[in-house]
Amino acid sequence: MTSIANSVRCETFSFREVARDGAARAGELQLTHGTVQTPIFMPVGTVGTVKAMRPDELASQVEAQIILGNTYHLYLRPGLDVVRAHGGLHKMMGWDRPILTDSGGYQVFSLKDLRKIREEGVEFQDHISGSYHLFTPEKVIEIQETLGSDIMMAFDECPPAGADEHYMRESMARTTRWEKRCLEARTRTDCALFGIGQGGTSEKLRREHLEELGPLPFEGMAIGGLSVGEETQAMYDTVEFTTPMMPDEKPKYLMGVGKPEDLVECIARGIDMFDCVIPTRNARNGQCFTSRGVVVVRNAVHKEDLRPLDPDCDCYTCRNFTRAYLRHLLKSGEMLGPQLCTLHNLRYFLTLVGQAREAIVEGRFEAFRKRFHELQAEGGS
Ligand code: GUN
Ligand code: ZN
Repeated sequence: MTSIANSVRCETFSFREVARDGAARAGELQLTHGTVQTPIFMPVGTVGTVKAMRPDELASQVEAQIILGNTYHLYLRPGLDVVRAHGGLHKMMGWDRPILTDSGGYQVFSLKDLRKIREEGVEFQDHISGSYHLFTPEKVIEIQETLGSDIMMAFDECPPAGADEHYMRESMARTTRWEKRCLEARTRTDCALFGIGQGGTSEKLRREHLEELGPLPFEGMAIGGLSVGEETQAMYDTVEFTTPMMPDEKPKYLMGVGKPEDLVECIARGIDMFDCVIPTRNARNGQCFTSRGVVVVRNAVHKEDLRPLDPDCDCYTCRNFTRAYLRHLLKSGEMLGPQLCTLHNLRYFLTLVGQAREAIVEGRFEAFRKRFHELQAEGGS
C-alpha cells in the first residue's frame, strides 16, 4: 500500500481511544518516556527550557505530561555535540517525561528573506551567527533522533497565509516528497514520527494532502499551516472538516494553537494534541488566563486587588499571592513575576484539557463546553 521501503517503526508507541463524545475524544498515548492522557496541551520549551519554569515545577505543579522542543534552535545552540555529550535532550534539560520536537520546517520558513527552498531541502542563514545551513528531511530526522525525541515531526513547508492555489499545490507536493524521505531516513525504534498535513483553509487541498499522507506509516498526524493569520472561525471550520480526513487510529495534533477557547473548540472538533507559546509568552507580559477570562494583572485596576488571579485555580500562585503583589513584581521587573504568572497560565491550560478529558469520559462534554464559555464571558476583572 505504501511506497516506503524502510521498515523502521516506533516500537514503544501506541495510541488508544478511551472515550468519545460527539467528535471529541479522550485517549491514551504511550511513548518512550511515559504515558500521555489526551486531549493534551504541550508547553513550549523552544531552546531546551520552558521559559521561567523549572522542570520539577513543570512536573509536580503544572503537571505537564509532555513538552515541545525545537530542532532549529537546539541544532544552532547549544548544538548537537553538547546535547550528545549529555546523553540526549531529556538528560540535558532534566526532564524525564515525553518530549515532542518540531522539525524546523516552520522555523526556517519564518526566516523569509534568509532562506531558499530547493527540492533537496531548505538553505537558510541562521538568526544567531548568520551562517549558512541546509535542512533536508534526512538532516532533521538525524537531528531529532540525536535529541532523542519521543515524537519527531516530519519536515514540511508551512505556506504563508494567502498563498495562491498554484503555490499551495507545488508546496504540498514537495512537502509530501519530503515527508516520505523522513520515513525513509528514520533509524530509531524508540522515536515516533508524525506527519503534517497542509492545505490552508481549503477543504479540497486538505483532502488532497491527507489522501497522500494518511496511508503512510506515521505514528500520528498533525494539522499544520493554521493560526497563521486566518480568521478564528476559518480555523475552526478547517479543523472541523479536516479531522474526519485524518486516520482515526492515530493521534490528531493541531500545531501552534492556541487560546483556551481554541482548545475547547478544537477538542470539540476532534483534536487530541496542542502546543502554543501563548500561555508562557503572555504570562511574561502579565496576561493571565483564568476560568473567568483574561486578567491583565499588570493593569492599574489591580493595584490594590487582594484577590487571587483565579478563584478556581489550585496552583501555587493562586494559593499564595494576590493580584496586587503579582502586578508589583511585574512592574518592578522582578524575575518572580513572570515565574508565578507562567506557572499559573500553564497550570490553567493543563487543568482545562484535563477537565475536558474528564467531561468526554463522563459523556458530558457539551455541558462542559457551554459552562466554559459562560464563565469566560463573566470577565476576569
Ligand atoms: N507549528 C505551527 N504550524 C506549523 C506547521 O505548519 N509546520 C510545522 N512544522 N510546525 C508548525
Ligand atoms: Zn493559578
